[in-house]
This record gives sequence, C-alpha cells and structure tokens, in this order.
Amino acid sequence: MIVAHRGASDEAPENTLAAFRLAWERGADAIEGDFYLTRDGHIVAIHDATTKRTAGGIDLRVADSTLAQLQALDVGTWKAERYRGERMPTLAQVLATVPAGKKIFIEIKCGPEIVPPLQTVLDHSALAPDQIVVIAFQQSVVAEVKRQLPQLKAYWLVGYKQDEATKAWTPAREDVLRTLDRLGADGLDTEGNRQVVDASLVEQLRAGGKEFHVWTIDKPDDARHFQQLGVDSITTNRPAEIRAALQK
Ligand code: G3P
Ligand code: CA
Repeated sequence: MIVAHRGASDEAPENTLAAFRLAWERGADAIEGDFYLTRDGHIVAIHDATTKRTAGGIDLRVADSTLAQLQALDVGTWKAERYRGERMPTLAQVLATVPAGKKIFIEIKCGPEIVPPLQTVLDHSALAPDQIVVIAFQQSVVAEVKRQLPQLKAYWLVGYKQDEATKAWTPAREDVLRTLDRLGADGLDTEGNRQVVDASLVEQLRAGGKEFHVWTIDKPDDARHFQQLGVDSITTNRPAEIRAALQK
C-alpha cells in the first residue's frame, strides 16, 4: 500500500486539500496527514506546532489560535505561487476527499485530549472504520485511541537515535516490541532506517501479530528493500514515482 505523506507533498503544499487531492490523482492507496487541536476545539491539518514555516512567516501557535484565525492564513504560497490562497483544512474537510476503498492515516501531533473531538468528527464522517488509521509518536495517544475508539486501528510511530559512543540505537528493539503490546497497538509504523529495520524485526512483529509500516521513503531502492521485507505500507512524498518503481 502506498501512503502519500502529508498528501502528494513533493509537488503540492503539505497538509492542504490541494496535496490530498493530488495524492488521489497520483494513485495513492492512502493519504497521511498531521493533525492538531485548535483553541476552539477544531481539528486542523498542519505538521508543526506553529504556522511559521508554512504560512509565509506568520507565527501563530495552533493550540492558542481559533479555526478562523488559522484559516485566514495562506498556507500554499510558500511552496509555489500557483498554490496561493490554499487554506489550512479541517480534518472533516480532509476526510471528505477520501474515495471509496481508500484510506487515511491520521497522525495526531498533540496529546490524548484530541481523542473525544476526534470521535465527534469521525462520527459525522461517511468513512467506514476500516478506512481510518490513527498513528502517533506519543504513546498515550495510541493507548487512548485503542481505549476510546477500539474499532480503529492504531500504529505506534517510532524514529531512532544512535548513541555516538556505543553506536546503540534507541529505542531498542525489545522496548519497541514490549511497548507495542502494552499500548495494544495494531502495528509499528517505523522510520525507514535500514540499519535498524531488518528481516528479524519483521519476523518478531509478525510473530506478535503486529503490522509493519514504514516512513518516509522517497528513494526507489529503499522502497524495493522494504517491499522485499514484506512491508504493509510505504509512506512517501512521491506516491506515483514510488509505485512505478515497485511495479518495474
Ligand atoms: O508517517 C509518519 C511520519 O509522517 C512521521 O514523521 O515528522 O513527517 O510527521 P513526520
Ligand atoms: Ca506525519
């Protein structure tokens, strides 16, 4: 499965309706987007905690701003002039782009306080539970989603850091496997670090009944490597190119 990271974000401004619609045009099986709660309780698509990088330098903290303040900003021009006027979409607007048979990976960037409003938005959406996956780095978010929305799949996101002296990677594999179990996560959505993610990790995940997903893979050679490991999905900024490379 090919998942378009922040939409087709190599071409279009990340986390906008333009990027999500382009992902569907480019043949993605799913879209991935980043979501925060606003001050007035709405859920919006944006990667950073503030608007500075994607709103032409205007710096609002999402958690301290209203939906109206955030949607007054232009979040397209930073990427290319032709995207001038793109607005920060709500989760509901993003869900409405998802075609039948396709999926969305909702990455929660804030804390578990978002889960009740998330439930409200999903209750009003036409999407079926099997079209929606929640992903998060924060363990408490994964645990709360599985507790309050058990009908949805939730994957724990993991990235790695290497100790300069010992060369050991953190988190260690045993910690990752134990944490997945403790959270009740349906799978691991891992950084595509080829030094850490190998066939034996995949075997251990499968033995524990966990899915195996990888991000963010933009090089065909890496995509082929993870395909050979039997990955369930590849998240990429370049959905059309990665699919073409895997079909060769
Ligand atoms: O799909 C997971 C990936 O998006 C996590 O990294 O920083 O791009 O949200 P980030
Ligand atoms: Ca993300």
